Amino acid sequence: MSIKTATLNGVATIEIARPEKKNALTVAMYQAMADALAAAREDAAVRAVLITGQPGIFTSGNDIEDFMKRGTGGEGAGSDALDSPVFRFMRALLDCDKPVVAAVTGAAIGIGTTMLLHCDFAYVSDEARLAMPFVALGLVPEFGSSLVVPQLMGHRRAAEKLLLGDPFTPEQAVECGIANAVLPAAEVVGHARRVAERFNQLPPGAVREAKRLLRGPQREQMLQVIRTEGEGFTRRLKSPEAMEAFQAFFQKRKPDFSRF
Ligand code: COA
Repeated sequence: MSIKTATLNGVATIEIARPEKKNALTVAMYQAMADALAAAREDAAVRAVLITGQPGIFTSGNDIEDFMKRGTGGEGAGSDALDSPVFRFMRALLDCDKPVVAAVTGAAIGIGTTMLLHCDFAYVSDEARLAMPFVALGLVPEFGSSLVVPQLMGHRRAAEKLLLGDPFTPEQAVECGIANAVLPAAEVVGHARRVAERFNQLPPGAVREAKRLLRGPQREQMLQVIRTEGEGFTRRLKSPEAMEAFQAFFQKRKPDFSRF
């Protein structure tokens, strides 16, 4: 299975493990992560959740082959898309009332970066690169990024990240508030785990209530933005622009948008 889960010393770990495809996330993997988050929420022995990847890669984002299937009417397409596994994962991360710590072990592309906006802590390897290249793929920002990224860094820098899709360094991620700290690649998982384990010493009821307060004021707006983004995203998956971008990726060439 490409999602490995384990609970040890109060920490439920969700490990993305599909290194041969750079940890690209399939429909089944989103579902497995949604289930793991729900299970962690229910398990009284779990005090925090750790999301991690593989050495050198956190995740290359949504599996582009799955994008093509959704765009051509395959799994996850159509009017039920807001109930698809990717949205179930988004909802489970938003609904997780226990602290979520991300260990960004390497490149974090697309949802690899946007999921960090919904984790409580993010520690990033000094070898990582982050990017949200939705527009370059013929798509639009997702997972609340069109709301949170401008709030974090202002419109101009958000436009660099979300319209141009410029990659950014771990240091820049810390500077703009997406990540807590940059660590040497070999230390990032251990450090993130130690932060997660600190919740074993804290009162879990107070932690849960405090997290709900921190997230509360923006929650309804966030859900609405995620729904609106999701409708546009699902529609754009079917667009000729997106198809050109996906085909170009697999043909290992630059996309040609000159005819649009
Ligand atoms: N979906 C499906 N397959 C993916 C993938 C993705 N998101 N990312 C990587 N892969 C596959 C490649 O097709 C390749 O498969 P192959 O060995 O069968 O040819 C394999 O994983 C290795 O990827 P490759 O691009 O050769 O690795 P790299 O080290 O040169 O680059 C990345 C790594 C992450 C920078 C690059 O793979 C990438 O840009 N991926 C796409 C990111 C993206 O646009 N995601 C969607 C965001 S919305």
